[in-house]
Amino acid sequence: MESGFWKEKWAKSEIGFHEGKPNAFIKDEFHRMGLDKGQTVFVPLCGKSMDVFWLLSEGYKVVGVELVESAVVDLFKSLGIAPQVIIIDQFKKYTGEHIEIYVGDFFALTSQHIGQVDAIYDRAALVAMPESMRADYANQLSRVTHQASQFLITFVYDQAQVEGPPFSVPKKMISHLYGDTYTIKSIDIKKVPGGLRGCGAQECLWILR
Ligand SMILES: C[S@@+](CC[C@H](N)C(=O)[O-])C[C@H]1O[C@@H](n2cnc3c(N)ncnc32)[C@H](O)[C@@H]1O
Repeated sequence: MESGFWKEKWAKSEIGFHEGKPNAFIKDEFHRMGLDKGQTVFVPLCGKSMDVFWLLSEGYKVVGVELVESAVVDLFKSLGIAPQVIIIDQFKKYTGEHIEIYVGDFFALTSQHIGQVDAIYDRAALVAMPESMRADYANQLSRVTHQASQFLITFVYDQAQVEGPPFSVPKKMISHLYGDTYTIKSIDIKKVPGGLRGCGAQECLWILR
């Protein structure tokens, strides 16, 4: 989607994607990433996700990127962290203890901005991209993180019945995007309670190494 789409969603508080608590998969399965405390997790398109809170509370460092500044302001408020804010290139960078969030366009980010990344946490980021943007998203993610391992959460449902975002991203698409550079393992699948806008849906967890 274009940036205007997301800015309008945040401005109108149409943020049904925001869970308001850490995702069930992160709590139960993130240990599989085998990270040590102090290692860095990159969270693309982070919104004001409470998964960031969970990662920090488990002792990881977080680097993220989010287009909409009000989301990042809310994120720091909910973390109880007063950020230092500086301008770097076309980004505003919000920094606190163990956390750096770039406000701006993910596609303009470089590996120099985010530094060493030990793992990627992708929840509602790949699935936020329409099919026409997915290859660019996947290539940019691989490039800026030097192909760090991924904890990837996707949805699968009948795209003919409901429009995204979130989009349905089945195994075939994940293999197409990442199969050349990653080993892809299915970890768990949960039924989405109530489905997505009335359409039966599954939430799927993948680990890509
Ligand atoms: C579906 S939401 C998911 C947010 C968060 N990951 C979560 O789980 O709550 C997608 C987010 O990506 C942000 N976004 C969309 N395109 C972006 C881009 N090109 N660069 C940075 N952020 C972007 C939107 O503003 C929105 O907050």
